[in-house]
Amino acid sequence: MSEQPLYQVRDVVRRYGHAARPAVDHVSLDLAAGERLGIVGESGSGKSTLVRMMAALDRPTAGSIRFRDTEISGLPERRLGFLRASVQMVFQDPRSSLDPRMTVGASITEPLRSPLLRRRAGVPADTRARLEEVMAQVGLDPADARRFPHEFSGGQRQRIAIARALAPRPQVLVADEPVSALDVSVRAQVLNLLADLVASEGLTLVLVSHDLAVVRHLCDRVAVMSSGRVVETGTVEQVWSAPRDAYTRTLLAAVPRLPLP
Ligand SMILES: Nc1ncnc2c1ncn2[C@@H]1O[C@H](COP(=O)(O)OP(=O)(O)O)[C@@H](O)[C@H]1O
Ligand SMILES: [Mg+2]
Repeated sequence: MSEQPLYQVRDVVRRYGHAARPAVDHVSLDLAAGERLGIVGESGSGKSTLVRMMAALDRPTAGSIRFRDTEISGLPERRLGFLRASVQMVFQDPRSSLDPRMTVGASITEPLRSPLLRRRAGVPADTRARLEEVMAQVGLDPADARRFPHEFSGGQRQRIAIARALAPRPQVLVADEPVSALDVSVRAQVLNLLADLVASEGLTLVLVSHDLAVVRHLCDRVAVMSSGRVVETGTVEQVWSAPRDAYTRTLLAAVPRLPLP
């Protein structure tokens, strides 16, 4: 029995204002449950715009995004509870994604307390217990829940953002350049944490990165974007060892070639 993809993105276009070219230009892709998809491409190629639309934080100008058979691109916020409970995002910079005036505990539990998610099937009802659980899962001391984001290092702040994303027990994690703003010395720790959580929670992953080596480490399939379009998709091995697209070859030439694990 072949399963319906979790996401079906069809001919999605996103044009900002009167920009000459759309930021996302007729993109189509499928994402199966449990799959780990990497989206790579140079800065400005439309990666963030695409995944923000998949997380319903932005709307396509044209085209269709179906999540579990529901067209999400035209839905009003009050009808998006099912998606908010199932799809959570981690952003590039925890300095801007975490509210500096909220304690770490309040930030992490905010999604659980939102009227759209509360009492929804699958979303943990015991906020305190879930807070302790996710803090421990990301390697933070639950006693730190009363502190504020500025008291933590960049890597720890990204752990807080990951705990917040995990809190509602999502099925899909969308991580947009989750280590690009961090010190090089802590990137591997945060990536390994993400890889562990994706495996232990059985998460479906959409990982945006301009760094192919990061995607190779965490993903099984990759979509390469250039100028708003997906120019190549394939398994990580296929794209890594035999890139079909000229642009992909230049991306690969820019990173050190290490043997696949
Ligand atoms: N909010 C916005 N308003 C206007 N233009 C935007 C906005 N966000 C992104 N863009 C433009 O859309 C294009 C794609 O941006 P983005 O999706 O952020 O790419 P990436 O994440 O691959 O760097 C870029 O040309 C960028 O300048
Ligand atoms: Mg981006």
